[in-house]
Amino acid sequence: MTDHPIRIAVIGSGPAGFYAAGHLLKESDGRFEVDMLERLPTPWGLVRSGVAPDHPKIKSVTRIYEKTAAHPRFRYFGNVSFGEHVGREDLLAHYHAIVYATGSPSDRPLGIPGEELHGSHAATDFVGWYNGHPDQCDLEIDLLSAERAVVIGNGNVALDVARMLVLAPSELAPTDTADHALEVLADSRVREVVVVGRRGPAQAAFTNPELLELGELSEADVIVDPAELDRALAVHDPAAEANATSRKNVEILKGYASRTPKGHAKRIVLRFLLSPTALLPDEEGRLGAVELVRNELVPAAGGALRAQASDERETIPAGLAFRAIGYRGIPLPGVPFDERGGVIPNAGGRVIDLETGEPVPGEYVVGWIKRGPSGVIGTNKKDAQETVDAMLADLLAAADGAAKHAPEAPDPTAVESLLRERQPELVTYAGWTEIDKHERALGEPAGRPRVKLTRIEEMLRVAASQSPSEESLEEVEAG
Ligand SMILES: Cc1cc2nc3c(=O)[nH]c(=O)nc-3n(C[C@H](O)[C@H](O)[C@H](O)COP(=O)(O)OP(=O)(O)OC[C@H]3O[C@@H](n4cnc5c(N)ncnc54)[C@H](O)[C@@H]3O)c2cc1C
Ligand SMILES: NC(=O)c1ccc[n+]([C@@H]2O[C@H](COP(=O)([O-])OP(=O)(O)OC[C@H]3O[C@@H](n4cnc5c(N)ncnc54)[C@H](OP(=O)(O)O)[C@@H]3O)[C@@H](O)[C@H]2O)c1
Repeated sequence: MTDHPIRIAVIGSGPAGFYAAGHLLKESDGRFEVDMLERLPTPWGLVRSGVAPDHPKIKSVTRIYEKTAAHPRFRYFGNVSFGEHVGREDLLAHYHAIVYATGSPSDRPLGIPGEELHGSHAATDFVGWYNGHPDQCDLEIDLLSAERAVVIGNGNVALDVARMLVLAPSELAPTDTADHALEVLADSRVREVVVVGRRGPAQAAFTNPELLELGELSEADVIVDPAELDRALAVHDPAAEANATSRKNVEILKGYASRTPKGHAKRIVLRFLLSPTALLPDEEGRLGAVELVRNELVPAAGGALRAQASDERETIPAGLAFRAIGYRGIPLPGVPFDERGGVIPNAGGRVIDLETGEPVPGEYVVGWIKRGPSGVIGTNKKDAQETVDAMLADLLAAADGAAKHAPEAPDPTAVESLLRERQPELVTYAGWTEIDKHERALGEPAGRPRVKLTRIEEMLRVAASQSPSEESLEEVEAG
């Protein structure tokens, strides 16, 4: 490697982007400089806008990212969107490498009739709404017209959605749930949430603590039909039986099936072996029911069990449906994209040109946009290490005369000028710190970790100020 600074642009400030930045700054012998570009004024990706508000401890992982952000060779440029304010060519002119860490911000449709009905939502949107993501803050979630909601999917996002729908207002009040969502959730008339898996309990993607948590809710019973459980478990699944998480999930679910309900006002019903076939309208044209087909478990190629539809159908009356069947990556202009997988094609983090099958010099990828929308926060640490190792290996090879990518102007001031020219309302880390202080100050009187700002304009106003807005503080204090 040469002695001059090696300048890296990381696109996206979620866990993957921050782990990549942290690894680079730690391992580079003082030569790496990292600029992080984030489309929102606020950092942390899904740690801020995905992780459920009643799980505040998980969010404390941001303390690690704050240490990275405090590094003298790190800069944050928020409110700058790759593909809108800057493109690949702009960045390649200024940086030795780009690391894409843009996550999987979109949702997957079910592809069945009725998905567009009033009352049918992607979990992605609902999650963004209750977490105060600016893209979803105006979403209309009608919790007054329905007493039953169906959540489709058997992953942890499905459990987050189900839990958020039945938590008591007193349990939500001390959290950082967005204020607009707190109001709507407090008035909710939803009494039953049916969580539907297309396969069985042994094949569910839940993790044990999240499934256990359902059994400890203060205002909701958890209901599992023992006959349905037995039917699903009658099919032998060697892969699931060898998996400790699956075995424990089955044990937890058997425990729920044998429970006598406590008679709480709300309930979460866990159903299995059912796939939705249509969302049906009621007389007013809003969602009225979910039609499902009963599945059998049959062996698939590779030994796993897949769901195969039978002739048996069932209809669950419901005014709300949330599809929680996974997130999806979206393409970035000029960057290779694998439409099928919804990821940037890569080999161990090196972006691959789809036509040549060769690595694209100077371009790397980490996190969900690298490997798809699965894995917890910590998974992204090891994943980012793999990419950083590949990058270091390439840069070492470059020192032997095989330069892979040489930027024309690797000058930190030149790129900052360019970014400010393209986005005059750029938010630096100091600007984010103002937003953070402001949000915490707003939350403090009510014992909440923060009150989130949900509008970009408001974030920009606070980021530009030197101290939390007195006006807003007075408003909160006045109740
Ligand atoms: C609802 C939900 C709850 C979860 N809860 C937990 C949990 O409790 N515990 C746990 O361990 N894991 C949890 N996870 C998983 C965890 O959030 C992910 O593993 C992790 O966030 C993925 O990191 P990432 O950096 O790849 O993506 P993200 O966190 O999505 O970060 C991507 C970032 O890129 C930015 N970006 C996107 N496009 C652009 C662009 N064009 N220009 C600039 N910036 C851009 C986005 O704004 C975002 O900040 C949860 C996931 C979801 C969906
Ligand atoms: N508290 C936490 O730690 C936490 C909270 C939230 C999210 N996360 C993590 O974030 C990641 C993403 O979670 P996720 O829940 O979005 O995804 P996930 O874990 O991949 O679960 C997706 C679920 O959707 C089902 N599904 C997919 N397509 C379907 C279809 N067409 N019809 C019916 N069901 C369908 C899948 O069933 P099949 O198995 O049959 O495909 C699976 O049950 C996971 O790694 C998760 O652990 C963690």
